[in-house]
Amino acid sequence: MMKLIIDTDPGIDDAMAIFYAAAAPEISLLGLTTIFGNVTTEIATRNALRLLEAADLQVPVAEGARVPLSLPPFKPSAQVHGAQGFGDIPAAEPKGAPLAEEAADFLIRMAREHKGELVLCPIGPLTNIALAIQRDPEFVKNLKRIVIMGGSLEEGGNITPHAEANIYHDPDAADVVFGSGAELVMVGLDVTHQILCTKADFTAIAAQSPELGGMLQSMSEFYLRFYETVGKFDGCSLHDPAAVIACSHPQLFQVKKLPIRVSCSGETSGETLMAEKGSRGDTSVCLGVDAKAVKTLFLERLALLP
Ligand code: RIB
Ligand code: CA
Repeated sequence: MMKLIIDTDPGIDDAMAIFYAAAAPEISLLGLTTIFGNVTTEIATRNALRLLEAADLQVPVAEGARVPLSLPPFKPSAQVHGAQGFGDIPAAEPKGAPLAEEAADFLIRMAREHKGELVLCPIGPLTNIALAIQRDPEFVKNLKRIVIMGGSLEEGGNITPHAEANIYHDPDAADVVFGSGAELVMVGLDVTHQILCTKADFTAIAAQSPELGGMLQSMSEFYLRFYETVGKFDGCSLHDPAAVIACSHPQLFQVKKLPIRVSCSGETSGETLMAEKGSRGDTSVCLGVDAKAVKTLFLERLALLP
C-alpha cells in the first residue's frame, strides 16, 4: 500500500481527488493538510473534514498556513469553485475538528515516522510544503516523493497567460519546493488539460455511487459552468485527481526530467520555467498522458464508493 498525504484547498476537483484516494485500493491515506487557494484556509479545513466524514475515513486533518510566504493574502477563486468551495452545495459544519498541530509540523512528523515511504501530493498552493522544508533540513530526505498538481511548461497558464493557479498563489513557496532536492513530479496543465470529464460522466458517477458520486455530481455542475465560460474545453479538467493517480500509476504519464524554477514577480509571476541545467535537482515534468486510461481509472474507482 502506498502511504499518502494530500495537501489540499477543497475545492471541487480536490473533492474528486480525495474521494478517488478513498476508493483506490492501493492507497493508504494518512491524513490531509489544508491550505488557502480555492477558498480560505479556514474553509479548506472545514471542507476537508466534511469530505473525510462523508467518505467515513478516520484520518487527521492538520490546518495549514493562512497566507503565502511573502505575497499579501488574496481573494479565493469563488468563480471556479463557489464561495464555500463546493459549488452550489451550501456550507455545513463538520462533526470533527483539526489537529492542534499545524500542517507543516504534522508533515515533518509524518515524514519522520514513515521515513522513505511517504508520498506527499500537494493539490493547492505550496506554502505548507515550503514551510516544512524550511523548518526541517531532513524533511525532503525522509519523504519518498512529492507529486505536485501545479505548473505548466508548454501549455500556458489558467489564471494568467503565464501561470497555473496553485503556483501563482504562492510562487515563492513553489520555488522553494522545486529547488529543495526532493524527488519531484510535476503534474501540470500540460497533462491535466487533456483529462476531461463531461456532464454525462458525472451523471454516470452519480448513478453508480449515489451518495459520494452524487455529491461530486452536484458540485460538478458549478465547475462545468465555469469551464463553459473558458470556452476551449469539452468538460472540466481533472487536475487534482490526475496528481493522485500519478502517485500510484506513474506508468500512465510520460515525463521529461528538467530543473524547474518559478518566476516570482512581475507579469510572469507564477510561471514555471526551465532552470539552468545543474543549477538545482531535476523534476519529472509530466508532458504526456494516457488520458483515456486515467479517466477510466477515475470513473471505475469512484463507482466503488457508496
Ligand atoms: O490549476 C488547477 C488547480 O487550481 C487545482 O488544484 C484546483 O483545485 C485549483 O486549486
Ligand atoms: Ca486544488
